[in-house]
Amino acid sequence: MLEDEGCGISQPRQADVSGGARGDAAKDKLIVALDTADAGKALELARRLRGLLGWVKVGMTLYYAEGPQIVRELRSLGFKVFVDLKLNDIPHQVDGACRTLTRIGADMFTVHAGGGRAMLEAAMAATAVAAQKVRATPPKVVAVTVLTSLDDAALGEIGIGRTTAEQVEVLATLARDAGCDGVVCSPNEASVMRELLGADALVVTPGIRPTGEAAGDQARTATPAEALAAGASHLVVGRPVTGAESPVEAAKAILKEMSS
Ligand code: C5P
Repeated sequence: MLEDEGCGISQPRQADVSGGARGDAAKDKLIVALDTADAGKALELARRLRGLLGWVKVGMTLYYAEGPQIVRELRSLGFKVFVDLKLNDIPHQVDGACRTLTRIGADMFTVHAGGGRAMLEAAMAATAVAAQKVRATPPKVVAVTVLTSLDDAALGEIGIGRTTAEQVEVLATLARDAGCDGVVCSPNEASVMRELLGADALVVTPGIRPTGEAAGDQARTATPAEALAAGASHLVVGRPVTGAESPVEAAKAILKEMSS
C-alpha cells in the first residue's frame, strides 16, 4: 500500500481530547463502539446518538468493512472518532498506519503496548509528523495493555506468568516511557494507572457493564460509575448500547449513571 502523502486529507481540526478524569461532561467521556460491518447501520445509530454524546469508536469490524470513509462520515456528523485497530507490527508498518490514521482525521487511536518500545516510539513520531503536515492537532495515541477479555489463566496460556494486573503495569510503564498519551485497560486497573501515569494521562476503559448487564466475552468488567470513580478518563461501551432495544435510552441511562 503506497498511498500518496497528500490524499485523503480531512479538514484540519482542533480536537479537544482532554486527559485526566476531571472536568469533562459525561458526554465527552462516553465512547460508543459501533461494532457492525455495515456503514449504513453504523451511521444510522450515530445519527440517533448525535447530540447525546461526543465520541464514537470505529473498530476492526467496521473499519475493515468500510475503510477510512466511515471515519470521515462520522466526523462530518460532529463526532470525535476513536479508531481502535490495535496496531501491532514492525515499526515501519506502524509508522505508515499512524500517518494514514492522522490524515483521515482520527481523533484518537490504539496501538498495542506489547508491540515494543521501538514500535511505540515510531507511532508517536509518525503521528506528530503527519499532523504537522496537515496542520492539525495530533490525534491521541493510546496503548492497549491487556485485553479486557483476558484473565490470568488466559495470559498463562500465551506464556505470560504474571497476573493481568502486573502485566498491565509493565506495559503501561513502557507506553508512558515511549511517550504515548495514555492506555487502554480494564476498569479494575484504572486507579493504579491513574497513579502511575498522572492526572493528564488518558485512561480508556472498555469492559463496562451497567448493573445487571451480561458480561459476554469480557472477563474484567465494572459499572460506569465504578470505572469513573477509579480514574478512567473515557469509557468504551459497545453491546450494552448497540444491542439494546433502545440504544438512545441505554446511552442516556449510562450517562445518568456517570453523572450521579
Ligand atoms: O461490546 P463491548 O462493550 O464489550 O465492547 C467493548 C469494545 O471495546 C469493543 O469494541 C472492543 O474492541 C473494545 N476493546 C476491548 N478491550 C480492549 C480494548 C478495546 O474490549 N482492551
